[in-house]
Amino acid sequence: MIRQAAEVIRAGGLVAFPTETVYGLGANALDARAVSRIFEAKGRPATNPVIVHISDASEVLNVAAIWLETAAKLAGAFWPGPLTLVVPKANAVPHIVTAGGPTVAVRCPNHPIAQALIRQAGVPIAAPSANRSTELSPTRAEHVLKGLNGRIDLLLDGGPCSGGIESTVVDVTGEIPRVLRPGLITVLMLEAVCGRVEFGAKDEGISRSPGQMEKHYSPRTPLVLCETLVEALVGFWELVCKHTRIGLMTCVQMDDLFQHESLLLRRMPNDPELYAAQLYAALHELDSLGLVAIYVTMPPNMAKWAAVRDRLTRAAAK
Ligand code: TXA
Ligand code: MG
Repeated sequence: MIRQAAEVIRAGGLVAFPTETVYGLGANALDARAVSRIFEAKGRPATNPVIVHISDASEVLNVAAIWLETAAKLAGAFWPGPLTLVVPKANAVPHIVTAGGPTVAVRCPNHPIAQALIRQAGVPIAAPSANRSTELSPTRAEHVLKGLNGRIDLLLDGGPCSGGIESTVVDVTGEIPRVLRPGLITVLMLEAVCGRVEFGAKDEGISRSPGQMEKHYSPRTPLVLCETLVEALVGFWELVCKHTRIGLMTCVQMDDLFQHESLLLRRMPNDPELYAAQLYAALHELDSLGLVAIYVTMPPNMAKWAAVRDRLTRAAAK
């Protein structure tokens, strides 16, 4: 199956494949036509660049013009793994991959199927998450089919992704590394390797990207974010009593008192990594139930929860 998938990639086709974060929609990163098919399949705006996947740090100069010390340090510490580094791009990388910009985002995924696919294809693989633009990211093969069935040439089913949310994106082209998208590699982990890092997209220039489109990773059902369980209860209890079907996603311990036939409770783990692993699956599941709204109690506003809070905030953006 992987050999066949590698052939599809080499022939300019699209392969959806599992990584340790979410499923990716892959094409030969050095083939502009193949990459343009990714944008078409996803309905992705041409202004949003895609990540290039390699199977080993030694391949990085096929896609990057230079490999600065900070990049090498971070890659040494976290590759293969859920960390994407934004670096100056090599000429071989077509403009469509980088949305016309001078930098390329590179990642070395830590998943045996992704690794094998890149190796057998023998080319770097451009891959955004395998969902329609602005919709929920897929962490299972069935999520991929929900959005992209009929738009891809082949899907490699590797079961559920263990990480569950997209990689941390760090721009290392400036003096101080800048986290453009939080993820399972936290700011604390990055700082332990390379000293101070900055957080958030710059207002101008190529660093604006992960957060560029506010609405992102969204279910179709409206999501209502609450800082506390009480706030959520105040918001939905009357609705529930009128038999309006509401979802509640929470990691707060809850009394049985709040059980109601119109309330669909999705308990989440009170641990950032475990929560992340289930986040999109929980949203996909609740989104398929025809609920009027999904209430979410936000995990605490702490550094270790930054990535989960970021995805929830985007999912709720109108
Ligand atoms: O975990 C992941 O990163 C998954 C798996 C498939 O690897 N991929 C993923 O891709 O989440 P996507 O396209 O959904 O998100 C890529 C993010 C976007 O926010 C994009 O704007 C940013 O990376 N990005 C890509 N190239 C960039 C660049 N040259 N400069 C700044 N940001 C970039
Ligand atoms: Mg995405």
